[in-house]
Amino acid sequence: MRKKFFIYGILLFIITAFVYYYFKVGFLLLIALPILLVVGIYNTLQHKHAILRNFPVLGYFRYLFEMIAPEIQQYFIERSTDGKPFSRNQRSLVYQRAKNIDSNTPFGTQNNLNVANYEGIKHSIFPAQVNEELPRVLVGGADCKQPYSASLFNISAMSFGSLSENAVKSLNIGAHKGNFYQNTGEGGLTEFHLQGGDITWQIGTGYFGCRTPEGNFDPEKFREKANFAQVKMIEIKLSQGAKPGHGGVLPAAKNTEQIAKIRGVEPHTLILSPPWHTAFSNAKGLIHFIKQLRELSNGKPIGFKLCIGNTAEFEDICNEMINENCYPDFITVDGAEGGTGAAPLEFSDGVGMPFEPALIFVNKTLIDLNIRDKIRIIGSGKIISGYSILHAIALGADMCNSARGFMFSLGCIQALRCHNNQCPTGVATQDKMLMKGLVITDKSERVYHFHKNTLHAANELLAAAGKKSFADVDISIFMRGDEFAQLSDLYFPDNLSKVTKTH
Ligand SMILES: Cc1cc2nc3c(=O)[nH]c(=O)nc-3n(C[C@H](O)[C@H](O)[C@H](O)COP(=O)(O)O)c2cc1C
Repeated sequence: MRKKFFIYGILLFIITAFVYYYFKVGFLLLIALPILLVVGIYNTLQHKHAILRNFPVLGYFRYLFEMIAPEIQQYFIERSTDGKPFSRNQRSLVYQRAKNIDSNTPFGTQNNLNVANYEGIKHSIFPAQVNEELPRVLVGGADCKQPYSASLFNISAMSFGSLSENAVKSLNIGAHKGNFYQNTGEGGLTEFHLQGGDITWQIGTGYFGCRTPEGNFDPEKFREKANFAQVKMIEIKLSQGAKPGHGGVLPAAKNTEQIAKIRGVEPHTLILSPPWHTAFSNAKGLIHFIKQLRELSNGKPIGFKLCIGNTAEFEDICNEMINENCYPDFITVDGAEGGTGAAPLEFSDGVGMPFEPALIFVNKTLIDLNIRDKIRIIGSGKIISGYSILHAIALGADMCNSARGFMFSLGCIQALRCHNNQCPTGVATQDKMLMKGLVITDKSERVYHFHKNTLHAANELLAAAGKKSFADVDISIFMRGDEFAQLSDLYFPDNLSKVTKTH
């Protein structure tokens, strides 16, 4: 190919030169060809890119198409029910609810319901009245001095760093207006979170915001911030579904001077928080840490977040709670299908338990040990609709968090560029130019409306199931497609023998 490129390139240049000399046309081509030839020579000599060495100019098209492949997929190929991690239908639902416009759909479902993995709600023949009030849940066990009345639906952990300043501010202002909380994520509590909305302050393994110069937990720094009035709860992050056992990742491109200052790290470098905590290393240590944070925060609700892996370890933690007579006020269960700003593919695709079984397991373990009434369970894992809220509650959650749902409400288009600082919507970037596109006054309203309309949809479903309160919901309100299959097995063979024509 290289030989052909130079032979045809030079021939074309000579022809163009003749044409221009005699007919005075082709001037631009005459200029462009030598430039392309120089680029070609450079590419044949470089050693890094095999495609460009072999196809010195055409090779660039591969890089171009690769770069815009997600957009081509989304705009030209994707159908309404496709799209990963979230389908076009799911994203549209959030956009409509966030814009507070009609989110009804026409003509009936696009899903195939006659399949074993179909799931639906068993509606009641006698529906209840739809509750106009949005549901709230009181968090705080016996040792909690400042229980918090939380909304049933809240913003899941996302750090300033993975999200832009405008995104964090919009979320907090929206949360303030709708009276729900925003979880800071492990990147620390910043001035952008302090816009009036309630906060759950997350403490990750990097202890950002309450960290000694060596990177360990600093009780005094913690005490100061934990006692801010806006901080309603504190969450110890053990792990997150998208990368359990890995620790936080802040790509160098997003580690600006501003973020480095907040986190107390070197700017423009890749920041990996360790997968483990230095403040504790086993179940007993975790329970003592909960005690310590409770004291330092003057009795605010303390909980931990994890993605379930080794189930015996979780049982061990629960037994230690009983031994020490010290319980977290809440446990946040994150599914392995959870989102992230950046994670190694191996961890996103192949580590951790998905949301459904994890939630069922945690709920069952607490019930079996007779400690379920002491602890609230918060669920997170692709919860973006009224249906998914009710589903999570039925599987054992008391409350739900959503991360990517609220990102969509901010205008995220699932461009899959959270990790390289090029988010085109200004949601997950530190690029000031891109961030300007996200107008806080507009987007905070969308955050507010998404929360309100989604919870209202959950209220409507609750009423359709004939229930008055989310506390009355359990798994019995759901049916699965495989139950139909079982019904067919049980009843059809007999019936069929009676109706089958014999000749
Ligand atoms: C951009 C982004 C940043 C996140 N940062 C954190 C974090 O700092 N700490 C954490 O515990 N989880 C983090 N998560 C995980 C979410 O809080 C949530 O648990 C997970 O995405 C599942 O919720 P979802 O399906 O509603 O997105 C992040 C997720 C996203 C998408």
